[in-house]
Amino acid sequence: MLSWNSNTWVIDMIPIIYLVAITPLGYLLWTVVYNLYFSPLSKFPGPKLAACTNLQNLYWTSTGQYHYKLKELHDKYGDVVRTAPKSLVYRSPQAWKDIYGHRKSGAPSFLKDPKFYLRGPTGPSLINMNDEDHSRGRRLLSHAFSEKALREQEGLVQSYVDMLVERLKGEVSSSRETVDMSRWYNFTTFDIIGDLAFGEPFDCLRESQYHPWVKMVFVSTKVVALSRPLLVYPFLAPIFRRFLPKKLAKMRAESFELATDKVHRRLETKVERPDFMTYILRYDDERSMTIREMESNAALLILAGSETTASLLSGLTYYILANPPTYRKLVDEIRKSFKSYEDINFQRVSQLTYLNAALEESLRVYPSVPSIIPRVVPKDGAMIDGRFVPENVSVSGAHYSTYHSESHFTEADSFIPERWLENRDKRFELDNRNAVQPFSLGPRNCLGRNLAYAEMRVIAAKVFWSFDMTMDESSTDWNIQKSYNIWERKPLMVNLSLAQH
Ligand code: HEM
Repeated sequence: MLSWNSNTWVIDMIPIIYLVAITPLGYLLWTVVYNLYFSPLSKFPGPKLAACTNLQNLYWTSTGQYHYKLKELHDKYGDVVRTAPKSLVYRSPQAWKDIYGHRKSGAPSFLKDPKFYLRGPTGPSLINMNDEDHSRGRRLLSHAFSEKALREQEGLVQSYVDMLVERLKGEVSSSRETVDMSRWYNFTTFDIIGDLAFGEPFDCLRESQYHPWVKMVFVSTKVVALSRPLLVYPFLAPIFRRFLPKKLAKMRAESFELATDKVHRRLETKVERPDFMTYILRYDDERSMTIREMESNAALLILAGSETTASLLSGLTYYILANPPTYRKLVDEIRKSFKSYEDINFQRVSQLTYLNAALEESLRVYPSVPSIIPRVVPKDGAMIDGRFVPENVSVSGAHYSTYHSESHFTEADSFIPERWLENRDKRFELDNRNAVQPFSLGPRNCLGRNLAYAEMRVIAAKVFWSFDMTMDESSTDWNIQKSYNIWERKPLMVNLSLAQH
């Protein structure tokens, strides 16, 4: 039997045992107290739990309701909300400029938040490259989006829009008049971007179905959104991998393989007309892109250039049909402006004032990227919306929340294209139109903005010129949707009939 004396070491160990047990608890308690009362962000408003731990914010993002949650938080706490111990989300136009806009010369930029972008197997793309690589890549690609390039791209874009209209006419004549317009817009924009980027479409319009890669792109985007806890808490990786359905992980991996294949196929092909790759391959020196960079940018270009425009066109169609007087005005403008379908072109659709107002309003009520694209405050901190924010804090503007705020827009939740017209009603005079930045701003804003507008205008003009449309009853609440970085769109069922001219 052990005597008391021979076991005094146990007693000696007690303080150490306490210490070991208490340290994690003490650390946890100190973190909570620090985050609530001593952190430089403790004076920023927001829910207490979100200020103490990242978990609440991660939960919100995983529900697909983050865009609605941010609006609720802004309505409750004001123009800035602390959504996590080191995250602030804004909804004021000045904050958009401070975070995303061009910095004064010499001032360090707000880098993309690495906790937001999951790195693909081929490395970073333009969207999350460091500043130096980004400038090199953007310089190359910007030629593909110049005015001159856009003029050269018109014939190709128009050929796919015509195919869309023909396919829809085919549906009507086969007595399948109720169609999912969201799918058809996707087919069109994916085919266009496939051809513009790599010289070959995905054949979605020809086959009247999604190319497997297109489906994978959607899954991949959702996986990225749901994987965000791994970037915040890397130790969760094994658990996440265990629970992530194998099918999803496989689809994400396959989407990268297909992007890689596309690039390599294109590199082995001689093309007759310039595509995005022509500009990327322009130099063979330090200004060029590596093969890895081409592969990761291939996936980016397809997603950035197709899903966004298809989403916006679906939003436009939904809101126009849900508000019959706006439908009438749009159709009247389009049908009175063109004697024939063949007259519809990039240059003339840019002059349709009601169509352009309706697109702006759709970008406001249904922005293609509804939640946030966070940046990190650079060394030594920065002033945002008139208030100092220390370095290393994640900061963002919230699209949906900003655009649906009554503090910026009269009848913010209503679809009213008239607010964008020059001769607008007085009640829209105080609308804060600068608050709407769906293409972001500054040195990393959307490179494809002009192409997007040209495409959206011509698609909308040709579709609304060709068909009379009404919303099917099954889609009346289509706008209530989840989002995982991009909208998780439901089928948008629309009844079509041939327009009589
Ligand atoms: C309604 C249509 C569109 C919307 C709302 C939109 C929105 C955006 C936004 C918000 C960003 C910034 C993303 C970030 O900071 O992480 C972006 C970047 C980008 N977009 Fe678009 N986009 C649209 C259409 C297009 C099209 C048609 C293309 C053509 C390929 C395109 C190509 C790009 C590229 C290459 C970038 C990265 C730019 C850079 O990082 O320098 N986008 N877009």
